Amino acid sequence: MYVILYRIVNGVTKAMSVLILGIETSCDETSAAVVAEGTEIKSNIISSQVEVHRKFGGVVPEVASRKHLELINAVIREALDQAGLSFKDIDAVAVTYGPGLVGALLVGVASAKAIAFGLDIPLIGVNHIEGHVFANFLVEANPVLPATCLVVSGGHTELVLVHGPGHYELLGATRDDAAGEAFDKVARAMGLGYPGGPLIDQLATGGNDNAVPLPRAYLEEGSLDFSFSGLKTAVINYLHRVTGQGGQVNQADLAASFRRAVVDILVDKTISAARRYATGTVMLAGGVAANKLLRNELSRRAGAEGLRVVIPPPVLCTDNAAMIACAAYHKYLRGDFAPMTLNAVPSLQLGVEQY
Ligand code: KG4
Ligand code: ZN
Repeated sequence: MYVILYRIVNGVTKAMSVLILGIETSCDETSAAVVAEGTEIKSNIISSQVEVHRKFGGVVPEVASRKHLELINAVIREALDQAGLSFKDIDAVAVTYGPGLVGALLVGVASAKAIAFGLDIPLIGVNHIEGHVFANFLVEANPVLPATCLVVSGGHTELVLVHGPGHYELLGATRDDAAGEAFDKVARAMGLGYPGGPLIDQLATGGNDNAVPLPRAYLEEGSLDFSFSGLKTAVINYLHRVTGQGGQVNQADLAASFRRAVVDILVDKTISAARRYATGTVMLAGGVAANKLLRNELSRRAGAEGLRVVIPPPVLCTDNAAMIACAAYHKYLRGDFAPMTLNAVPSLQLGVEQY
């Protein structure tokens, strides 16, 4: 039995200064955060394993799980210390339980269950994609809804209609590569290293985005789905053609042309969705949302259409536990707690709880 204290704000009953410890271990970031009232980030510790995975050119699932296991306790400790709190101050513990790498997810889920059981506080299971969406609620606590949210990460490219906390409609998704995956694969083909998104973004700044003609797949008329594998293949073919003819590839021009093609598709489809579903607000989420051109173009185009735009700072776009704690806050208010049998669900769908 949990005791929840309430207070009345503007006639609305609210839980009292709720402190949620969030845990995120779905991929290669070990993160823990404390968020008060779903909005105030008391701490957000992110330990990236990128250096470990770089030499393999991508995330190695088994290595990621072992690293999470090594880091998780220290990261949680640091999140509490930096917030100036101890375990007894925490009202609930929230954890990403999917989608993601099963071994990586399990480390977070097992830690959160141990904390919830030991402290006798609620356990809250959060969908990773829902977490990304909620990074926007850390920037604007009460955005005008419904909103069209573009979620673009290493594993996902989705257009989500956000009616409110817990109420989502999937409008479109990638049929092959995720946007971040395309960035990473193209960077690898160009010999740039891992992760490719930030490297291409940086390199593109000095390039001409009209230099290399690349295809943009819009799919059937009106489709809000995405496809990036043709674009990726076009870049690889271009690299082979130029080097095969003994020529020199202008890396900056190629990076800029590729980034422009991805951003054109993402922004066009997001604006189309916002128009079709008459959402006055557009949101951006996921690691690729750290992309400079995407941020600028979405702001510019949405602004020109008279839409409100919410874009979280880059640190809240890539994987972090503050977004998980924020999403969990709304579940806490609804009393949507997970049982102690909560398990990792690697292919968890948005809006479909599996506990
Ligand atoms: O959300 P995230 O941190 O992890 C997943 O849930 O996948 O996203 C990681 C992805 C990687 O593919 C990375 O290359 C991409 O986000 N990314 C970027 C940028 N920063 C990170 N892609 C394009 N431009 C960036 N600046
Ligand atoms: Zn993510």
